[in-house]
Amino acid sequence: MSRIVFVNGEFVPEEEAKVSIFDRGFLMADAVYEVTTVLESKLIAFEGHMVRLARSLGELGMDKPEWMDDLLSIHKKLVSKNNLENGMIYLQVSRGVADRDFAYPASGTPTSLVLFTQAKNPLDNPMYKTGARVITVPDQRWGRRDIKTTQLLYPSMAKMMAKEAGVDDAWLEEDGYINEGTSNNTWIVTKDGKLVTRHLSTSILHGITRKAVLRCAELLQMEVEERPYTKEEAANASEAFFTSASAFVCPVVEIDGHKIGEGVPGNVAAKLREIYLEESMKEAV
Ligand code: PDD
Repeated sequence: MSRIVFVNGEFVPEEEAKVSIFDRGFLMADAVYEVTTVLESKLIAFEGHMVRLARSLGELGMDKPEWMDDLLSIHKKLVSKNNLENGMIYLQVSRGVADRDFAYPASGTPTSLVLFTQAKNPLDNPMYKTGARVITVPDQRWGRRDIKTTQLLYPSMAKMMAKEAGVDDAWLEEDGYINEGTSNNTWIVTKDGKLVTRHLSTSILHGITRKAVLRCAELLQMEVEERPYTKEEAANASEAFFTSASAFVCPVVEIDGHKIGEGVPGNVAAKLREIYLEESMKEAV
């Protein structure tokens, strides 16, 4: 069944949605995006995603889309027009349409805004039960990973390296430390029960789920260290997991062929996932 999508102010069937071939999102990957989860037809952590969107636009000196103040109502209309119970909403903003030039077009050039839904239920992902297996690969992305841009070619390449290696994902390593996964923030649980996740900087995306899971850890009175860690530390941890809007908290059971802990999904990840879902639903809009 065809989806209803939003393109520059209009809700249209996906077959009718059009953007220009001169859109800078297409020509230059001059675009940012957000992914918001929908559970029971409600938006999870909506405000956090919109705050990060505003930050991404600001960091790139991109004008706010004309519909910036209507984004909640646009998201909600997409949910209802598509009868979306559980799934995702993707929002993409580009710097707009201009003749091809490396320099930005004049300020005031209208940005392009598109939103679309994906009906895949994130709760159905079998990896929560099996745990994910990952490999490490060099992090060859650009230096501003804190901005959520649509330049996703290297993460796609890394995902393909994982697929070719017969595993589920790749963890991106730089200067001997793990930054994050191809599309998630990564965590380990040390043998003495501490949660470790890389500190915020321009090296990683400042995950909205990461922030919520840190709050859950506080509720559970867990000790947390925000610092870099190596793949060796991850391989010797008692548990590992990753977080993202679409995966929530997902256990990782193997890294570069080494079993992590017992090689099965751990209790800390399971508990954090449970609390995360509970807490997120309380604040869902
Ligand atoms: N990815 N790190 C990277 C590189 C990501 O692409 C993502 C999200 C995250 C987690 O951020 P959040 O918790 O805000 O979803 C971390 C989304 C889900 C995607 O591109 O599909």
